[in-house]
Amino acid sequence: MDNVIAIDGPGGAGKSTIARRLAEELGYIHLDTGAMYRAVTYAALQEGIDLNNKEALVKLTKSIEINFNKDGEIFLNSKNVSKEIRSSQVNKNVSKTAAVKGVREILVKKHQELAAKNKVVMDGRDITTVVLKEAEHKFYLTASIEERARRRFEEMKEKNKEANYEEIKENIARRDKLDSQREHSPLKIADDAVVIDSTELSIEEVVSKIKAIIEGA
Ligand code: CDP
Ligand code: CDP
Repeated sequence: MDNVIAIDGPGGAGKSTIARRLAEELGYIHLDTGAMYRAVTYAALQEGIDLNNKEALVKLTKSIEINFNKDGEIFLNSKNVSKEIRSSQVNKNVSKTAAVKGVREILVKKHQELAAKNKVVMDGRDITTVVLKEAEHKFYLTASIEERARRRFEEMKEKNKEANYEEIKENIARRDKLDSQREHSPLKIADDAVVIDSTELSIEEVVSKIKAIIEGA
């Protein structure tokens, strides 16, 4: 499968940042699939849907429209929800929504349709293993839990938001566990993915490393 770059990994590993940079440099589209699971979760919370009610979640996912603009901002039924999907309420609940098979089926289909029509750099949890299983270029991006929590903490501080390092670390660790232990499409390293540990690497170093691998292929 040409013209697609698939990236998976745990939260805070730098997937979205690296994917965005790669897409810019290569003239590809970046698709942050996590933002779509977040948008579904945000919509469910807004509508007061019980997140244990799988049927209601699937019905909701079918009924909503999710779009991105060129700057990567995300729209739920035409409303820009880019900030709202990063709230702590969504952080806490997104892995629950993402564990529902029917929700995943609908979103995976959308991701695959987008990849069929565009040159894409797609990042998430199941891109290398399920969504773009046949992608020529697959990467698993990771970093230590301490470094990932530190990055999220710094991001919050930059936005002048209240942040507690231990709470952030706990939330990331909890999602790591839920995402890698769930029944449907758990986060795992694909046999043919190149693993990059960015704990000690800058964004530029990771981008260069990936580009060197792609160009050398
Ligand atoms: O904020 P962070 O980068 O940690 O996560 P994200 O990429 O925004 O994804 C949020 C959540 O959506 C993850 O913790 C997973 O539960 C879920 N997700 C998924 O199940 N499959 C994907 N392809 C992408 C995200
Ligand atoms: O998408 P994912 O949750 O994997 O990570 P992200 O949303 O891209 O966030 C990673 C954060 O760490 C961003 O604030 C980046 O600026 C920073 N960072 C990085 O992504 N990669 C490095 N090698 C160093 C820092």
